[in-house]
Amino acid sequence: MLRSRIVGTGFAVPERVVTNDDFAKIMDTTDEWIRTRTGIQQRHWVTEGETGADLALAASRKALEMAGIAPRELDAIVYATSTPDHYAPGNGVFLQRLLGVQPIPAMDIHQACSGFIYSLSVADAWIRVGLFRRILVVGAEVQSTAMDVSTKGRNTAVIFADGAGAVVLAPSEREDQGLLAVDLHSDGAHAEMLWVDVPGCMYHPRISKEHIDAGRHFLSMDGKEVFRHAVTRMPESVRAVLGRVGATPADLSLLLPHQANLRISEMVQRELGLRDDQVYNNIQQYGNTTAATIPILLDECVRSGRVKAGDLLVMTAFGAGFSWGSVACRW
Ligand code: UT7
Repeated sequence: MLRSRIVGTGFAVPERVVTNDDFAKIMDTTDEWIRTRTGIQQRHWVTEGETGADLALAASRKALEMAGIAPRELDAIVYATSTPDHYAPGNGVFLQRLLGVQPIPAMDIHQACSGFIYSLSVADAWIRVGLFRRILVVGAEVQSTAMDVSTKGRNTAVIFADGAGAVVLAPSEREDQGLLAVDLHSDGAHAEMLWVDVPGCMYHPRISKEHIDAGRHFLSMDGKEVFRHAVTRMPESVRAVLGRVGATPADLSLLLPHQANLRISEMVQRELGLRDDQVYNNIQQYGNTTAATIPILLDECVRSGRVKAGDLLVMTAFGAGFSWGSVACRW
């Protein structure tokens, strides 16, 4: 059976670093609160003029270079983002334009935190059925422009951040190597617990001064409820995807959990009975970059030698929708 495998990884974050103390100067918060409640020490935010597509381009170039593949050799782009540079079209086409590639399909997946997992599953299926061979899969977000940086927005502003990660997926020559299994779910019952209300096509006009005055264009979150679901759903999904390949958490070389809150990752680790060396986190440096957290984690692990040939890896995510899922892969 034909499988897909990751042959290149890369990531990019904006140069601008925003520290916890920077927030303490403009809202009622402290470095201590942010570190102890979230684990975050700093994050990267764009400066005006820097776009999500720019970050995606920088990440993609690194992934393509590692893969030894020129942009013109790509067959398709799958771009996960919940924060496209414009309301329409999606960001895939802007990345395609920046890469200067032929009119290959460029598709956006608007699945927030689990967007990269969903995108991998789509690209994997395209390769398995023989439709495309070389696919660029990107997770990229600019969340900072949806943040209310007054005290009212302190439960989101200190968490969400900007960044991009990319992988190149290609057919695997070996049946025991590459993406092995996928587990995907969503539950719209909780859609308003983590969302951006406007602009919305149900409103006439889609965004008004009243909306903006009420702050309905900012990302809003019921943090406690999201937290409660995340720590149940992620371990459930990790067990499910491992079960599909006849493995248990003890067999896992490395878990890459979506970086929403260090306390969430630690609870997921405990629930699965994993040792510290079986889990990798980097939220301390980058905050929560939504669809970009997993490809950023992956690239750091690949480049530092933390992922080795033959390792069993699981990537898992939970977020807005709610939507969640996992991918198991043999490196
Ligand atoms: O990416 C996918 C989805 N996102 C997540 O999975 C995030 C999930 N949720 C969380 O990470 C946490 O719920 C938060 C970090 C957002 C909040 O932490 P918490 O421990 O659940 O705090 P809380 O919401 O229960 O709030 C406790 C207190 C509140 O004050 P009062 O009402 O007790 O006076 C908040 O107003 O902490 C306050 N608070 C803050 N205080 C200082 C909230 N944000 C801040 C802040 N600085 N930045």
